[in-house]
This record gives sequence, C-alpha cells and structure tokens, in this order.
Amino acid sequence: MCGIIGYIGKRDAFPILIKGLEMLEYRGYDSAGIAIMDDNLKVYKKKGKVAEVYKHAKEHGAKGNIGIGHTRWATHGEPSDRNSHPHTSASGKIAIIHNGIIENYAVLKSALLKEGHTFTSDTDTEVLAHLIEAVKEKGNLTLLEAVRQSLTQVVGAYAIIVMDESDKDTLIVARKGSPLVIGIGEQEFFIASDASPIAEYTKSVIYLDDNQVAIVKRSGEYTVSSIAGVPHTPFIEKLTLEATMLDKNGYDHYMQKEIFEQAHTIEDALRGHILPDRSVHLRGLEEIADQLAIARRLIIVACGTSWISGLVGEYLIESLAKMPVEVEYASEFRYRDPILNKHDIVIAISQSGETADTLAALSLAKERGAVTYGICNVVGSSIARTTDAGSYIHVGPEIGVASTKAFTGQVVLLSLLALLLSQRRETLEADAYKKLVDSLEKIGESVNKVLKEEEKIKKIAEILKEKESALFIGRGILFPVALEGALKLKEISYIHAEGYPAGEMKHGPIALVEKDFPVIVVATNEDMIDKVISNVQEVKARGAMTIGIIREGKDELHSIFDHVIEIPNVPDEWMPILSVLPLQLLAYHTALIRGADVDKPRNLAKSVTVE
Ligand code: AGP
Repeated sequence: MCGIIGYIGKRDAFPILIKGLEMLEYRGYDSAGIAIMDDNLKVYKKKGKVAEVYKHAKEHGAKGNIGIGHTRWATHGEPSDRNSHPHTSASGKIAIIHNGIIENYAVLKSALLKEGHTFTSDTDTEVLAHLIEAVKEKGNLTLLEAVRQSLTQVVGAYAIIVMDESDKDTLIVARKGSPLVIGIGEQEFFIASDASPIAEYTKSVIYLDDNQVAIVKRSGEYTVSSIAGVPHTPFIEKLTLEATMLDKNGYDHYMQKEIFEQAHTIEDALRGHILPDRSVHLRGLEEIADQLAIARRLIIVACGTSWISGLVGEYLIESLAKMPVEVEYASEFRYRDPILNKHDIVIAISQSGETADTLAALSLAKERGAVTYGICNVVGSSIARTTDAGSYIHVGPEIGVASTKAFTGQVVLLSLLALLLSQRRETLEADAYKKLVDSLEKIGESVNKVLKEEEKIKKIAEILKEKESALFIGRGILFPVALEGALKLKEISYIHAEGYPAGEMKHGPIALVEKDFPVIVVATNEDMIDKVISNVQEVKARGAMTIGIIREGKDELHSIFDHVIEIPNVPDEWMPILSVLPLQLLAYHTALIRGADVDKPRNLAKSVTVE
C-alpha cells in the first residue's frame, strides 16, 4: 500500500516528485523519501509525512532532472528513517523504490550476507537493491538485464522503479501484483502507482501488466517486455482524469469533499443506465449475457466497505431478482476451497481495483471456471482489467482513506443490477418495478436534504467524542448500513465501534450497554420498524444513549431516541444510499473533534495492495 513516483526528462524533478508524493500519500504515510540525480545520486528520506522529506531535501539543495520517490505503509520493519525508501545497493549507486512484499527476501538476504553484504535496514526492498547490483556486476549486465534476472529470483508482489548513477538517462520499472502507470510526455516520463500524479502533465499512459518490465529514456524512447525478455507492444490509453478533480475545492478534507460530492456522484453512478423505456442497461453485463442466462448464483468477493456494499447487494438481488447471492470476505475466500463452476458469477467489488485479497480471490474464481464481473471506481485498475466484464461506478477519484462516495456508488450499481436481473428473471410486477426504478432515478434529489443535517450531526459528534465504544444496529437491508457506520467511526476516530443486527443484541452485545452507552440505530426501514423499536427500548431500559436515523414523518419516534436524524422517504430498497450519509458525517466530525487525521488515519492506507 505504498505510493511510488518517478520522473525523467528535462524538468527539475524535485517539485514533481514532492507533489506526486503528496498526491499519493493516501496510499501510505508512515515515512517518505526521494532519490534524485544531478552530478551524482542523492537520497533524502525521513520517517513521517512527505512534508518532512520536502523540508529535509530542500535544506540540502536537492536537484536533478531524474528521480524517484516513495511514501510508505510499513510492511517489513517499523516506520523509521533507515527503513524508509528509496533503498540503495552496496555501492550506493543504485537506488530503488518498491510497493509490495518480497516473500522470499530472507533467503535472498542470507545468500547476500554470505557474500559479505551488509544492510542498514530491516526491509525486503534493500535486499532487492543489493541483489540487482550483485547480479549486474557478476554478469557485467545492463541495468535492465540485471533487474530482469534479479526479478526471476523474487517471490512476491512488486511495483519498482530503479535508477543507476552510472546511467543518468534511464529508469527501469517493473510490476507484479502492485499497480504501475507510465505517463508519456515529450521526451519525458512520469511513473506512478496510479494516474493521479500524472494527469496534470500528460494524458497518454501505459498501464504495465504483471510480469512486465519497461525501460524509459530521457530521449523519449521506451520499451516494454516480459521479465523473461519477450518484447511487448503496450497499448497507450488516454486518461479521462483531470487534475482539478484532485483538488479539495475549498473543503477542509478530501473526506468532507467526497461526502458532499455524493449530491452528484450518486447521479453520475446512475447516469445512462436507466433508459427512457425504464429498462436498466449495464453494458458490462451484456458482454456476459450468455453466461448470465445459465448462472445459478452470484458470489460477491470484496474487503472492508466494499464487502459491506456487497451485503446490501445480497439483500437487493435476492429480494428483487430471487437469485442466490453469497458475500465473501476476499481474504477468506482466496484461502478456503470454494466449490465453483461455470454456473457461478463471481463479482469483485473494489474502489481502487488494486486490493490484493480481492485480486487473489478473483484469480481463484477464474481458475475454477467461474465467470467474473468487476464493480470498480479506478479506470484501468488491475481488477477492472482482470475480470471478464464489469461496470465502473464513475464517482471520480476517492482520496480520503475512509470510503464514502464509492460506497454509495457501489450500492447504486448493485441496485441497478438487482433491477436488471429482476427484469430478466421476470420476478417483479410491472407496477412494483416502475415504482422502484422511478424512485431510484430521483434519489439524488434527497441527498442534499440529508447533508443539510450536518449542524445537527456535529452536535451529536460533540457527545460521541468522549466515548470509548459504540454500537451500531439495524435490521434487514439496513443492517449492512450499521456495519458501515461502525467501520467509518472506528477507522477515523479510533473509537471502538461494532455493527450488529438489531435482533442479535440479546445474544451478547446488550451486555455492553450501561448508562450513556451510545447506540446508533439505523431505523429507516418501513417493514420491521416495530421490531427495531423494541430493540431500542431494550437498550434504553439499560441506560443507553440512543441516536436514531429515522424516516421523515415518523414523529412518534422522536420521543424514543435521545437524538434523531431524519431521512426523506424512499422505498426500503434504496434506504441504504441515504441512511449511510449521516453516519459518514458523524464519523467525520467525531474524528475532527478528536484531532484525528481524517484523510490519513493511523495505520491505514487507501489501497491495500499487500495481503
Ligand atoms: C473503507 O472505508 C476502508 N478504507 C477499507 O475498508 C476499504 O473499503 C477496503 O480496503 C477495500 O478497498 P477497495 O474498495 O479499494 O478494494
């Protein structure tokens, strides 16, 4: 989950590297560093955020028009100056940055130690730097050849950029299991973990595939080949991403911006999928129409918030389309022995499209003959390019580590999928279908109304901020929303929070409830509301402080809760899209009051590209 950046060309590399790292910091921010070359190769690296490295490097006069940079989420070795990237070879003349894990680094390291190598860090990456130089010297090889031969010895995942003081006109890049994008300029190249730092300089990009290596030269020449050396003619794609989409546009944090962007991103996710005749169209699904016709089961594999959106999808698809759905944690699915065949469609949901566990689950599904479908946000991401077909949620870049607009975008796509399947399987009466599709199409109109409750939510956050623990509960299709509210609160405010089916309270969790214990209740479902209210009474009887997310017009519920947030009336099926909004704002403001780093919460990263 690190961010890597590289530049070679005629410009001053320093500002390009620093700005690129700032844009990639959401991928990891335990430490950062750059290597830059003028007369000779210099490395500047520090524990902490990119700003630390910027100050340090500037003080030391960092300059040059070729360089690499790295912002780290620690895997091997604690966050520290010495474990920061870039790492250098024994001579210090080769520098490397790496996103991924070298699983056999210990074996490689012990062989190098026997040859007299000494290491200054605990990282797997430093081992690779030493290995490349050793292979280069032993075989009197070019840097490209040495990188290729070294990578044949590596087991694990990597996206690397390598530079060599003896060749100031070349960068070598390679990837396996971690993303890498090459931006092609006029006699200059911009390399990064994703397209965000590249978009302002060039729209022509190459997405490197697994087991590929590329050499890029100051002259503007480049070649791509397999690790084994087989030449490959890459496809040059045109970015649709605009640099302006990456600004905070006046908001204090990306998360705040992305919460409020939902007023239009929900409509963006819907756009073009509901036709004038009210039918639903998902182009990606048309590509697997034959397989869909014989499909007997959908299996959703995902992680974190994406897994939760999959749970909403399960409720919707089973109730509307009467099609069996299973939702699996990708990290579990990839290691158990699932029974799969051509009658299964495995749907991978991933905002980043780079989550290692989800990618691995997808590969297993393909190996076992299932059809695969992706629901991603990042265009051209690994998952999007691995599945047989798919749909993008088109909510724009999501920078805040806590996923917000991607969640609602995913739920919108799953809602459309449920409606489309209900039509193909003729499981809904025409009137019921029309009511659902019309209300889904208009749901964006209700979003702003919910977001206007922000001041009230801030007041509730003032109470929540002192708490050490909280329970989120809900029933039916709102149970996953309770899970999502708990995940949001815990991951950015560090308050321990759990989501539970409201009906489960009596089976354990209610033991936690004591005076003023916060219980947030997602009580917006029309059906089962009486049962939810009974659960609220049970916790109130034990002193809980209750916060209710309720439907507009349910005035009788105001007296039951200590605090209420009202949600405009939409069908139960679409309530998850609106009911999650106040929970996103509640987590955001609670974290803010507690002084947490909302966009870059501790220990986390935006894209978990290692397992
Ligand atoms: C959600 O707020 C978290 N940032 C995390 O759970 C995230 O949803 C998970 O890592 C999956 O990421 P993906 O959607 O990019 O695969």
